[in-house]
Amino acid sequence: MTQTTSFPKNQIKVLLLEGLHKESVRRIEAEGFHVISEKRAYDEAELLEIIPEIHVLGIRSKTYVSAKAMAKAKRLLSIGAFCIGTNQIDLRAAKIQGVPVFNAPYSNTRSVAELVIAEVIMLARQLFGKISSAHAGEWNKSAAGSMEVRGKTLGIIGYGHIGQQVSVLAEALGMRVLFYDVVDKLTMGNATRVPDLRDLMERSDYVTLHVPGTRDTQGMIGAKQLDWMKSGACLINASRGTVVDIDALAARLKSGRLAGAAIDVFPEEPKSVGDRFSSPLQGLPNVLLTPHIGGSTEEAQRNIGLEVAMKLIRFVNNGSTEGAVNFPNEVLPEMADQHRILHIHQNVPGVLQKVNTLFGEAGINVTGQFLRTYEDVGYLIMDANKNATQKIIRDLKNMPETIKVRALF
Ligand code: NAI
Repeated sequence: MTQTTSFPKNQIKVLLLEGLHKESVRRIEAEGFHVISEKRAYDEAELLEIIPEIHVLGIRSKTYVSAKAMAKAKRLLSIGAFCIGTNQIDLRAAKIQGVPVFNAPYSNTRSVAELVIAEVIMLARQLFGKISSAHAGEWNKSAAGSMEVRGKTLGIIGYGHIGQQVSVLAEALGMRVLFYDVVDKLTMGNATRVPDLRDLMERSDYVTLHVPGTRDTQGMIGAKQLDWMKSGACLINASRGTVVDIDALAARLKSGRLAGAAIDVFPEEPKSVGDRFSSPLQGLPNVLLTPHIGGSTEEAQRNIGLEVAMKLIRFVNNGSTEGAVNFPNEVLPEMADQHRILHIHQNVPGVLQKVNTLFGEAGINVTGQFLRTYEDVGYLIMDANKNATQKIIRDLKNMPETIKVRALF
């Protein structure tokens, strides 16, 4: 990044909590910010005390940023959630204070896809039983029921980031790929789109779920849908625990109607490492149970760290908000020899006109203008020639619709 902020970089205080990946900390430090890095999460009292001084906050899932904390975060420019979820942050409170929140929703896509492919092969070869019996001292050398995956049909439900990666990897193994999605998706390789869920369930030897956890997908695979599956087929779920009716699945595995399952996500999951986990699927043959580790790899952790660090750095340095979860998304060009004014405002009629009038009256030449809105917040970026002054910033700050103004040069 070549830009500097009007505010000296070494005075931008960045608080990084919860032991972020060392490369992301290093990347942020390399920008010359004043970085405080802690291994642990902060509780609300600790956060309330420090947050008034902080410009950028980086957390994972265990530090809660409440509306109360946001109300005290007078200097806060942005929050980085160095994880997938952002439920730990009051996104609305952040938004109305003009604080974009960034996360890394797709940094672990490949990790999930690789686990799914491994599971398809494990189910096909009944590896769980074979491995367990070898560990128990049994020599169960039989080919009965063990299959190659080549030539078999994999049905993918939800052809998004993960679904598409699974599709590519499965074809490389010689599988036929069908997919079903509610949205029109570009087909990868020779995969075939099917018109409805039933068609996919009836034709697939392995069905894998990659849909989001929404009201529409809750319970989408119940007894009726499981009964559409081929006899002896297998089900894989590494999406969300709410998507599959586990009792209905357990019944069909026990009766032998389905040959196996690999489940990584559950309707109720233990809150912390070490808590007891129980499921009706425990103890069933050819059922792989994993503790929600689809995306848990060293590479994914590193990618998450770098992705969020870069989003924060880009926002501080040039105002880009691409990928913000609670804020207008704007990808901004690198700044040439100019000033950039970032004006975050309430999204009400007439703001653009007022700002343009202020610039016109000041005789400032605008070289680029970008405006994005998200719900009740607007984000206006004005690139101006070098004569943009402190006066214009004062005038902008005095507008009643203004939430925040920042100048970069
Ligand atoms: P994505 O948003 O890229 O893809 C989801 C796809 O599902 C989209 O193409 C969407 O159009 C489609 N879809 C939505 N509703 C549908 C419906 N009712 N029927 C059919 N298709 C539907 O999401 P991504 O990144 O591929 O993630 C998929 C799932 O994997 C999510 O539930 C996510 O939470 C989960 N996940 C699980 C991890 C794990 O550790 N097991 C790690 C990462 C993600």
